[in-house]
Amino acid sequence: MTVDNIIDGKAFAAGLRRKVAAEVVRLKKDHDITPGLSVVLVGNDPASAVYVRNKGEQTKEAGMVSSEHRLAADTPEADILDLVNKMNDDPSVNGILVQLPLPHQIDENKVLAAINPNKDVDGFHVTNVGRLWTGSDALVPCTPLGCILMLKDRLGDLSGKSAVVIGRSNIVGKPMAALLIAESCTVTIAHSRTVNLADLCRDADIVIAAVGRPEMVKGEWIKPGATVIDVGINRVEAPERGLKEDGSPKTKLVGDVQFTDAAGKAGAITPVPGGVGPMTIACLLRNTLVAACRQNGIAPPPI
Ligand code: GUN
Repeated sequence: MTVDNIIDGKAFAAGLRRKVAAEVVRLKKDHDITPGLSVVLVGNDPASAVYVRNKGEQTKEAGMVSSEHRLAADTPEADILDLVNKMNDDPSVNGILVQLPLPHQIDENKVLAAINPNKDVDGFHVTNVGRLWTGSDALVPCTPLGCILMLKDRLGDLSGKSAVVIGRSNIVGKPMAALLIAESCTVTIAHSRTVNLADLCRDADIVIAAVGRPEMVKGEWIKPGATVIDVGINRVEAPERGLKEDGSPKTKLVGDVQFTDAAGKAGAITPVPGGVGPMTIACLLRNTLVAACRQNGIAPPPI
């Protein structure tokens, strides 16, 4: 393993945030527009609260306007739909993000469908899914967008490369496949029921692991020199780190890829943490900038 085969997602994300911030300054100077992102958080999920806080802080650091709507866990669906409609009609709101998961009484699909697709900075609305797959101007889901930006930065032209995407979620696997096809890769979408996963990986120039199973992708499956993007974030027990105060083992984060073994074979690989994770919010800021430009008839900057 050489250190320069490790893709530093933290540094890459910081660079993207700087580029977004510079474009925000320019948008203000040239057009007197400051992009605004509104985030809706329903309930008390601690992980969601951390995400939302980080999103708010980074939005402000990029020079954009951040607003947060924190609603009680028992908020009726109709109230959330009303709020979304108000934000759809508010020209100072360029991006709308409803943090998932939502409490059980709320139909997630109904809420996502209510968001104006041009403000849907998550890229989850079916209109944006359709735009992505048909090659028109979509807002692209943030995590796969971060992956493709890192891949292109590392490899340049992806044309003709064989890629295996492990995972078929609407949020990562499927949009990732669409983005790779758009870059003229030959794409296989694998998932938990795929029978010959090891062989598929052995043939792949690019492996994207987004299946949510700790260290499922083995180092020996990686073709020498391949690029490995690990989207997984799994918390596992780490008894080697000792015990917590309550006597239970300490924990650590691992990806979907057996990192040390895979890093010994890969040409480039993202670590967990510090790989794909930091790119997600950076891409959210990028999407908010793009949305603000398009809503005002301005061509978005090529970042
Ligand atoms: N929950 C976890 N990640 C995300 C995300 O990227 N977008 C939304 N809306 N909810 C999430």
